[in-house]
Amino acid sequence: MAKKTIRTGIVGAGFAATFHFESLQKVHSTNVEVEGVFAIDAGQAAGYAKERGIRAYDSLDALIDKVDVVHVCTPPVAHEPIAVAALERDKFAIVEKPLTGYFGDGSDEFNGDTFPKTDALDHSLASIQRMLAAEKKSKGQILYAENWVYAPSVQKEREIIEKTGAQILWIHGEEAHSGSHAHTYAFWKFSGGGVMIGKGCHPLTAALYLKRVEGKARTGKPIKPKAVSAHTHAITRLAGFRDEGHIRCDYHDIDDFSLMHVVFEDGTIADIFASDIILGGIHNWLEVAANNHRSICNINPNTAMQTYNPVETNFKDIYVVEKTGTKQGWSNPSPDEDFFTGYHQEMEAFYGTIAYGDQPESTSSLAADAISTIYSAYVSAEKQGAEVPVNTF
Ligand SMILES: NC(=O)c1ccc[n+]([C@@H]2O[C@H](COP(=O)([O-])OP(=O)(O)OC[C@H]3O[C@@H](n4cnc5c(N)ncnc54)[C@H](O)[C@@H]3O)[C@@H](O)[C@H]2O)c1
Repeated sequence: MAKKTIRTGIVGAGFAATFHFESLQKVHSTNVEVEGVFAIDAGQAAGYAKERGIRAYDSLDALIDKVDVVHVCTPPVAHEPIAVAALERDKFAIVEKPLTGYFGDGSDEFNGDTFPKTDALDHSLASIQRMLAAEKKSKGQILYAENWVYAPSVQKEREIIEKTGAQILWIHGEEAHSGSHAHTYAFWKFSGGGVMIGKGCHPLTAALYLKRVEGKARTGKPIKPKAVSAHTHAITRLAGFRDEGHIRCDYHDIDDFSLMHVVFEDGTIADIFASDIILGGIHNWLEVAANNHRSICNINPNTAMQTYNPVETNFKDIYVVEKTGTKQGWSNPSPDEDFFTGYHQEMEAFYGTIAYGDQPESTSSLAADAISTIYSAYVSAEKQGAEVPVNTF
């Protein structure tokens, strides 16, 4: 079969837009023509475009009109309007995590620490519904860029669950590091919350995905979350926190530590940690305790490579692993970090859907369940961990 050609537009020109572009170079099933980029920061978009030999657009609509798919690589506050604009023109939208959320009431007084969290739950559910309605009407689709779903260790676990008919009893997972780089991340009004949504969405979505896989493999019906209880903390904003320069600590009104305890409709459970207070490089892992096996999916770090370096400066030009503070001593360099993280596989799969109609693994419905669980978790945290029901889609 001849390869199809897909025309691509990138929205946003920061960190995510960079790894999206790199992953596009690894798509083999489809010819990808990157038409251009649009970002609110026109200077940043111009630099991004020049470096990659693509065009910088000064209007989102003009870019959407020229392409088959839009990569939504902006802060979460802009995900819904950009994705809906693409869907309304029958284009696909690859949407970065988290799918959507609640970004406050627009007032100067809005404060993420103190506003009633049921507002966040109600508004985020309404946002999800608007996005799903736009998708339903469109010839395009939302492809949810949750790379954990495509990480090779999580896909290997999918195979084990499907082929052995495993029942997952408990999932235990975490995403943590020493703080996100994006300036906007510090503010609820741009990020829609703190670490519980920003990082917690990754292991949570992988856990929700694997329970769906389990249900579909054994009975044809996905197993969904039923209730959640949660705690959040702002450790780096404690009056007594002692800043030694290793951990980001300029957050405005968001949590930097969270724990979600999810109960599924079959009574089994998942415990998901997320934090911005961990040194030693990014820590992304998911443990699955099943009735017939146990797996520890080490996304990052993993032991594909272990290196001892006696002198820091020896490695001055060598990338080791995301967010590591030092390259001296023992480390776990990732020989291909984007591969272990699932970025390449995710992009290949999405272009398979756009070009050839393949069924995606990471769908809007999975994304919607993750967002719904997280905002129910924020309501729970406000009630000191009381259990809160979860709506599913
Ligand atoms: N999957 C992952 O591993 C991963 C990693 C990092 C970030 N992300 C996600 O990617 C998204 C972007 O994060 P980032 O780290 O790249 O942020 P960033 O601050 O590095 O870049 C954001 C870009 O979006 C542009 N922008 C902001 N508002 C816009 C709007 N309304 N319209 C058009 N452009 C706009 C900015 O000009 C900037 O170029 C977030 O949703 C984040 O959660 C995902």
